[in-house]
Amino acid sequence: DEMSFPSFVALIPAAGVGARMGASIPKQYAPLAGKPMLLHVLETFSAAPQVDQVYLVVSPADAYIDELLLPPRCTVLRCGGDTRQASVTNGLRAIAPQTEPDDWVLVHDAARPGLTVELIDKLIAFVKEDAVGGLLAVPVVDTIKHSNGHGRAERTVSRELLWAAQTPQMFRHGQLLDALSRAQDITDEASAIEALGLHPKLVEGSPRNFKVTLPEDLAVAELHLKGM
Ligand code: C5P
Repeated sequence: DEMSFPSFVALIPAAGVGARMGASIPKQYAPLAGKPMLLHVLETFSAAPQVDQVYLVVSPADAYIDELLLPPRCTVLRCGGDTRQASVTNGLRAIAPQTEPDDWVLVHDAARPGLTVELIDKLIAFVKEDAVGGLLAVPVVDTIKHSNGHGRAERTVSRELLWAAQTPQMFRHGQLLDALSRAQDITDEASAIEALGLHPKLVEGSPRNFKVTLPEDLAVAELHLKGM
């Protein structure tokens, strides 16, 4: 039977050490509502009907991944790099032989366990006909201060046009790999696409899809997961 084209694949960078967690195990393996954080993310993508393949990028030295029972359609790539950008770029290169340049890649942080199938569906629905691609993001609600670098507010930045980027970020494989190969010092995929002069679509995400960074974030993430 015929494969649908283009395909939708998830690429999950999970090769960080989670330094800000101050824990002995990397944060993507921190126990959360009964299982390691990254299993929540893998299970969500595995349950999303439109996602054809789920690729997980771990560090070559990762000592935890072999202990996990992975959900269907998940493949581990041991090609993580020193930065998130390097991990994503290495992952995109590793899947190039089995991926078409126009296939959509949804890059998602392992440290955002609050993602839901509904949010994945929404992103895909809003972006799949787009020429550029897009990302989940939330409008900024706080008043934003620009600091003077010494702990004092220098000025207030209008929040009117500001959005906080989340993941997944959804771009075409060929263009994303090209953009990431050229970009320097970026913290998400959209910045690499922006550097090409293109404007990724902003699709409203959810506060529950926040990035677990500090130890106290674990309790908040657990509340969201248990309240499902
Ligand atoms: O450290 P940070 O929270 O920005 O990491 C975001 C995501 O990128 C996490 O899922 C982390 O595991 C991943 N990452 C990576 N390779 C690195 C650094 C971070 O895959 N070298």
